[in-house]
Amino acid sequence: MNDSTAKSRRTARLATPTSLGADARRDISAALNALVADFFALYLKTKNFHWHVSGPHFRDYHLLLDEQADQLYATTDPIAECVRKLGGTTLRSIGHISRLQRVSDNDAEYVTPLDMLAELREDNARLADRMRETHDVCDEHGDVATASLLEVWIDEAERRAWFLFEASRPGETPG
Ligand SMILES: [Fe+2]
Repeated sequence: MNDSTAKSRRTARLATPTSLGADARRDISAALNALVADFFALYLKTKNFHWHVSGPHFRDYHLLLDEQADQLYATTDPIAECVRKLGGTTLRSIGHISRLQRVSDNDAEYVTPLDMLAELREDNARLADRMRETHDVCDEHGDVATASLLEVWIDEAERRAWFLFEASRPGETPG
């Protein structure tokens, strides 16, 4: 047995059987892995802002961002397991996340609270867009189970964007 045969045998051990076919496995896995990377990146950015937010609304923003970070983190595992269920392989390291993520990091020394909320609102809206695109890929291959899960995660991203929008509105001045 030469090296490439040994390698392909080891790789084959991770190929969970699926009736959806090799094209579905390849296309849906690629789309989902990019989403896992985005969720991890947005999780850490939301935690970054949770830790560094300051000002008179500190408590509200600090708690809101913690709730949203928890929801993002909780979604990483089921997305990655969708990939394994289809027989694909998924993320292995922080380096792997950084190569796939489309959510940009924000390492700025100081970000105003309203800029934090606006940036996260935009990130969540774009995440919802990318999940809609992934839903289309699932539809093309008849993967209704992954499509159905994506619908829940799209709804959650839209809710996060809504909360961030409302939390960043200017206060009413008493008339
Ligand atoms: Fe905390």
